[in-house]
Amino acid sequence: MYAEALAHLTCPQHPDAPLELAGRVRRSTDGEIVTGRLRCPVCGVRYRIDRGVADLLGPLDMPTTLVQLTNYLPPTAWGYERAWRPHALTLLAGEPFGYERELPLLVGLAAPERGGLCVDVACSNGLYARALARAQGGAAGHVIGLDHALPMLRQARAYALAEGLRVSFVRAKAQALPFAAGTVAVLTMGGSLNELGAIDLALRELRRTLAPTGRCAMMCLTRGTTGPGRALQGVLSVGGIAFPPLEELNRRARMAGLRLRAQWRYRVVVLSLLTR
Ligand SMILES: C[S@@+](CC[C@H](N)C(=O)[O-])C[C@H]1O[C@@H](n2cnc3c(N)ncnc32)[C@H](O)[C@@H]1O
Repeated sequence: MYAEALAHLTCPQHPDAPLELAGRVRRSTDGEIVTGRLRCPVCGVRYRIDRGVADLLGPLDMPTTLVQLTNYLPPTAWGYERAWRPHALTLLAGEPFGYERELPLLVGLAAPERGGLCVDVACSNGLYARALARAQGGAAGHVIGLDHALPMLRQARAYALAEGLRVSFVRAKAQALPFAAGTVAVLTMGGSLNELGAIDLALRELRRTLAPTGRCAMMCLTRGTTGPGRALQGVLSVGGIAFPPLEELNRRARMAGLRLRAQWRYRVVVLSLLTR
């Protein structure tokens, strides 16, 4: 993680308490904090920064569903963007939908070039986080990729470093975002709401942390309309993936206090722009 992230990170238990560096830190030549500790001034809890990733959950935090467990496995993290992610939307939308189509759409909704803090929530290998960092360019701001699976974050960091992008990676839960209320200019979430578990709590966290002029760009998978599609989703739901109907998804976002500003639908794939 980078010093820019420190200006924004708070304790997951005390979201108004900015975390501070405690003790000795080791930095790389580009200024990344590679090892060190963060401390909450309220509860005194210390969090490790190891190999560039700030871990705000600790070793006792465990996945609760089969699909979450799968994402904790190093081979999944290794193969995610190598094997599945480049083809995911083409397969799910039933039409050509490579990165060259998905990422401009996502970045167009998020508008990271306005600057400020951008957070890719449940980022996996950091595909959206990297796209935000590229688009933010020289604008004053910083991008943080957040996930609860450490192997995903390690791979995400490796991809960002290989591209020379200055992105911070943090291990935390979507249901307890480590940011103060109203401080995040851009939130993105790509296909993750489906597998987070407590969806309403995660949506309320997005609403809490979003700045008054902030934008939340979300790609989500919705209930299938064909028999075979629904049957497959039924099987996947046993592992912990939820596929809400679009109307339900929109209703839950509204209940969390998020306003729907724009929405595109490609079969089960839905891209939405939400604001406060
Ligand atoms: C579908 S993948 C995300 C894909 C990624 N956004 C992309 O566009 O390539 C779902 C991710 O959500 C993470 N995840 C699941 N539950 C989470 C939670 N409660 N908090 C944070 N991350 C979570 C998983 O570890 C996994 O990396």
